Amino acid sequence: MYHLASCLAVLSIVTRSSATPVLPTAPSPQSILTSSTLLSRDEPQLPYGQVIDRCTVPGTIAFAFDDGPYIYTEHVLDLLADAGMSATFFLCGDWEGNIYDFSHVVNRTLSEGHQIGSHSHYNLTTVPYQTILKEMYALEKAFSDILGFVPTYTRTPWMHVNELVLSALADLQYHVIGASILTDDKANNSPDRTERSAEMFREGLEQGGSISLAHETQRYTAESLVEKMIEEVEKRGLKAVTVGECLGHPQELWYRER
Ligand SMILES: *[C@@H]1O[C@H](CO)[C@@H](O)[C@H](O)[C@H]1NC(C)=O
Ligand SMILES: *[C@@H]1O[C@H](CO)[C@@H](O)[C@H](O)[C@H]1NC(C)=O
Repeated sequence: MYHLASCLAVLSIVTRSSATPVLPTAPSPQSILTSSTLLSRDEPQLPYGQVIDRCTVPGTIAFAFDDGPYIYTEHVLDLLADAGMSATFFLCGDWEGNIYDFSHVVNRTLSEGHQIGSHSHYNLTTVPYQTILKEMYALEKAFSDILGFVPTYTRTPWMHVNELVLSALADLQYHVIGASILTDDKANNSPDRTERSAEMFREGLEQGGSISLAHETQRYTAESLVEKMIEEVEKRGLKAVTVGECLGHPQELWYRER
């Protein structure tokens, strides 16, 4: 219940400081995952509301971190800066740390060339359509307060999706990112276990994966695993870039006005 309470804390920020949001009505069942969510010539290059888990630009890999910002985020930013690499951070409103307490870290992440996405931390697959929208709007408010704009990319908590979640995210015009390289880093968050995560990372690469999942909020991910991931990418001569870059998606489409 701690998790739920921490998410509600984000929601309360919104209800305290703004009028009741005007929510679109729920889609009819027929509109779920129809051609409106598919790529068409007149729409941006990247579809909304469909899970994308692989890079399309050859030779690239996208490190994607979930659950920040937190006390270890800046160490990972240092490592990436030293390696000359970019990554993507899917941030929460109030999970390990409250996003407002870490707004300097959010700014630094953006200013150093990394991509920021939304990582709501409600169990989206277990709540009604209106609650999915409210949760996404709550994070949008935080991003707007801190950055002045909001991400168009999201990764759902635990990467759980269902048709309702995807249709809500399509309605909100979010690109939904999954992962094709897992590290299980939360289960391996100790000095003697990060090698297991590194091995999963290598196997994922070996099997053609290109968008990874790890949590820079975990101490030993930040202090050990990320270095191993960087080394492996350097050894293979891959280019570590943001998710947007690895999809060939223009940077001006990674964010929009709230
Ligand atoms: C949400 O789902 C995750 C994964 O299934 C579970 O571990 C967690 O306890 C759930 N949280 C709440 C608040 O229901
Ligand atoms: C973050 O950046 C925004 C926009 O540039 C700025 O208004 C804000 O003061 C910055 N916050 C921190 C804590 O640096």
